[in-house]
Parts: sequence; C-alpha cells; structure tokens
Amino acid sequence: MTRRIDIVEVGPRDGLQNDPGDLSTEQKLEFISRLEAAGVKRMESGSFVSPKAVPKMADSGDVFRGLDRSKATRHIALALNEKGVRRAIDAQADEINFVLVAGEGFGEKNQRMSPQQSADMLAQCAPLVHEANIPLSATISVAFGDPYTGEVDPKVVGNLAAQAQRAGVAEVGLGDTIGVATPWDVRRVIDEVRMQAPDVYLRLHFHDTRGAGLANVAAAVEAGIDVIDASCGGIGGCPFAPAATGNVATEDVVYMLERAGFETGLDLDKLIETAKWLETALGHPVSSSLSKAGGFPSS
Ligand code: COA
Ligand code: ZN
Repeated sequence: MTRRIDIVEVGPRDGLQNDPGDLSTEQKLEFISRLEAAGVKRMESGSFVSPKAVPKMADSGDVFRGLDRSKATRHIALALNEKGVRRAIDAQADEINFVLVAGEGFGEKNQRMSPQQSADMLAQCAPLVHEANIPLSATISVAFGDPYTGEVDPKVVGNLAAQAQRAGVAEVGLGDTIGVATPWDVRRVIDEVRMQAPDVYLRLHFHDTRGAGLANVAAAVEAGIDVIDASCGGIGGCPFAPAATGNVATEDVVYMLERAGFETGLDLDKLIETAKWLETALGHPVSSSLSKAGGFPSS
C-alpha cells in the first residue's frame, strides 16, 4: 500500500508574515482558495499575535471571517499567548497551533518568554482550547538551533514536548525556524522527543535557509514522520530570525515525495500555478525549484 504523507500548508501564515510583498485580505483569501483547489486539507491560515510585532498578520481575524467553510479544509490559527488563543477561538479556528520556544534568545526576541515560560503559557491556555472543543497542536520553534544563543539541547526539546503532552496536545511540530538542521540532527531530535513524549504525534517544520531543507524532509520521512509543514512557492520566514528564508516549498516536497512513490493528495500542477500567481501578487520571484523547472515526467 502507498504510504501517505500529509502536508500542512503554512504559506498563508509563515509564508506571508515576513514577505516584503503585501497581499490584501482578498488576495490572502484567493491564495487560500487556490491552495484548497490544489487539494490542501490542513493549512495555517493566519496568526493571532500582536499586530505591532507582526503587522502582516493584523488582518487574520478578517481572513478567518472570509473563509469558505463549506470546504473540508482545516484552518489552523497560530497563537502564543492567552490573548491570541482567545482571539483564535473567537475566530472559530478549526485548530489552534501554539508556539513553544526551545531557545532563550529567540524566545526573548520573538515572544518575550523563556522556553519554560512558553510551556507554562501553554498549560495556562490549553484548558480554554479544550473547553472550546478545538484540536490543539504545538510547534516548538528553534528546535534545532537559536539564532541568538546558539545550539539547542535536544533534551530541552524533548522536555517541552513532554509538557505539551501533559497539557493535552495531540500533535507536536519540531520547527527548524532558522534552517540549521542536518538530516542527522533530525533523527537525533526525533528520537529524543519520542523518548520523552511517546504519546504525541510528530510533525516536522523546515526552512531551507542553508540548503538542507529537502534532505531534512527525507530524513524525517525515513524516521517514520508522516506530517510535514511546507509553504507554496517556498515563501516566508520569521521576522525575528536574522536572514530568515522560506519554508521548504510545498511543490518541491510534493514532487520529491510523489516521485519516490508516496502519496500526498496534492495536485502538483495546481501548486506550481499558485506559486506563479504568488509571484505576480507579491511582486517578486519565489524560491521554489519546481515553479521554475516544472515536474518530471511532464504532464
Ligand atoms: N493579539 C493582539 N494583540 C496582542 C496580543 C495578541 N495575541 N498579545 C499582546 N498583544 C498586544 C497587547 O494588548 C499590547 O497592546 P497595547 O500596546 O495596545 O496595550 C501589546 O500587544 C503589547 O503587549 P505585551 O503583553 O506587553 O507584549 P510584548 O510587547 O511583551 O510582546 C508578544 C509580546 C507575544 C505580544 C509579541 O512579542 C508578539 O505578538 N509576538 C509574535 C511573534 C510572532 O508572531 N512570531 C512569528 C510566529 S512564531
Ligand atoms: Zn517557520
């Protein structure tokens, strides 16, 4: 039987939050519906953070209000404090993804929290999400390295995942926010997290900042992971990570996995079309390989 790998599309959130181009709310909604037409079933459609910290996500409430809820897509809202969680619940998010942080330096710059404070904040917010009957996931940012304080101990990542498990989080994402992981680190961190938090489902989140993005996806899939974050066009990055670049591109990941015999349920041609649409909408080229080269064999 073909093994299925689910891709969580993060373009409308991680992708757009740091892009120099500006999409109107209507254009964001068009981006989202193009992704849905390409088969995306789970997507980060916005974040509920301080609009001063991330102005590009200031209209996430309007984006959620404008979503076509007749589609089967699960729209995820990102949050990292109680105010954000309450806003995400009000916006009727289908899932809330809470941001934990594994590094002290990035934690301070991105959300003014230490790793332990982010876990405490999750413990404080989780009951609200459970009470609202909304699936809760968490992503551990800078799980492979912190741009300010350097190496991150996999044991710290494992410990955060264990605290997420205790808070009733079903799925934990391991985020290489600044693109420093190698395929061998991927295996090490996954093994440590599995030891400390055996009951959580794992999702991996890579940025292609230093060229190892797709290799890291392959390493994760070899390690048994079957949920991967990716952004159409490979756009994105975090405003609080120096020299941040985009996530692994959805179309590049889909091409690699499908050519290797995995099933993603996504339509490569429609993803490439959407990446090209994004280039026009954002006013600059996107970084994905497949939007330039096209698939093979050509369809
Ligand atoms: N949504 C909207 N506004 C929020 C908010 C949220 N979730 N959380 C805080 N704010 C507002 C506060 O109401 C306050 O507004 P005011 O200045 O009008 O009174 C302001 O933001 C500052 O609040 P404060 O609690 O003092 O926060 P801070 O200045 O220490 O910043 C965060 C902390 C977490 C709010 C801010 O760093 C943040 O939103 N970071 C998001 C980073 C991000 O999204 N990174 C990318 C994804 S990982
Ligand atoms: Zn990211």
